[in-house]
Amino acid sequence: MSKKPELKKGDPETTGHSWDGIQEFNNPLPRWWLWTFYACIVWAIGYSIAYPAWPMVNKATAGVLGYSTRAEVAKDIAAVEARNAGINEQLASVELTQISADPELQGYAQNAGGAVFRTWCAQCHGSGAAGAKGYPNLLDDDWLWGGDIEAIHETISYGIRNETNPDARYSEMPAFGRDELLEDEQIEQVVNYVMSLSGTPNDPALVAEGEVVFMDNCASCHAEDGTGDRTQGAPNLTDAIWLYGGDYDALMETVHNARYGVMPEWQDRLSEAEIRAVASYVHGLGGGEATPE
Ligand code: HEC
Ligand code: HEC
Repeated sequence: MSKKPELKKGDPETTGHSWDGIQEFNNPLPRWWLWTFYACIVWAIGYSIAYPAWPMVNKATAGVLGYSTRAEVAKDIAAVEARNAGINEQLASVELTQISADPELQGYAQNAGGAVFRTWCAQCHGSGAAGAKGYPNLLDDDWLWGGDIEAIHETISYGIRNETNPDARYSEMPAFGRDELLEDEQIEQVVNYVMSLSGTPNDPALVAEGEVVFMDNCASCHAEDGTGDRTQGAPNLTDAIWLYGGDYDALMETVHNARYGVMPEWQDRLSEAEIRAVASYVHGLGGGEATPE
């Protein structure tokens, strides 16, 4: 043990602790530090009274100012909606074909429609609208049901083979194999004929008989030349653009079991302005057609 050093005159009191002869002075905390500390306590009490702060069982204490981030967002959304109310009303009431005639309306529809598309349509049609197997590409000018703004608007409003709405677009290709409408041999023949329509390599020995099967069983929907029929949503089979695939196996599956692509209706979920905005967006993607006079 070393000897306790003498305290000099004017030294502060010690805490009584000493290590290896080093003693701990009992200096007070600096004033500025203390006042900052007290100010923080006062501010924290004030804040937790004014704003949401203490977590309770279900929610936090609300605070006397009634502030909530959720209410702020709702207020921001309401403000945007109020700002757009005029243009939305215009969009919902103007003739569909006139949307593109008004640059301001058209610009607004394209932006708003893009947002609707990314939220509601992209999961099926792809974020870039290029589609996927069973979900049509909306970028090209190959339309199942029609590519003018009115046809697109109708498709989106009521859906396709959507059994909850009698106005939905509807048609049903028979399941020629499963329901034994055609022999396996005939299916093989007609599939080879369909392949020949788009120049896909096929078995030429089967094509002539396949054409007979086609005229008897398929032409009523897909047209005699195979170019399809939009009033029935029957795809063009000559353009090598396939919804379900144009190779032998995919075609056998289509003709054997048929397909039944369903698109929901949007009339019940989106406002008329939103439907028109997204119709205008899809129409503007590249394949949009002019409305026939
Ligand atoms: C649940 C999947 C699904 C969603 C979501 C969906 N669609 Fe579709 N859509 C389809 C299917 C499947 C078809 C093709 C049906 C058929 O075979 O005729 C289709 C067809 C279409 C067509 C017709 C294309 C043509 O060639 O005539 C348009 C236009 C369209 N969708 C737009 C939209 C828009 C806009 C939205 C969002 C508001 C949307 N779809 C959301 C599944 C979907
Ligand atoms: C009642 C009308 C109807 C008849 C008859 C019909 N189809 Fe179809 N076909 C359709 C419709 C509608 C579709 C689209 C189905 C869907 O999207 O779910 C289709 C789709 C197809 C496809 C898929 C095209 C693609 O892009 O993937 C092929 C191939 C096809 N049909 C071939 C035939 C052949 C071959 C026959 C005769 C043996 C036939 N169809 C008879 C209505 C018909």
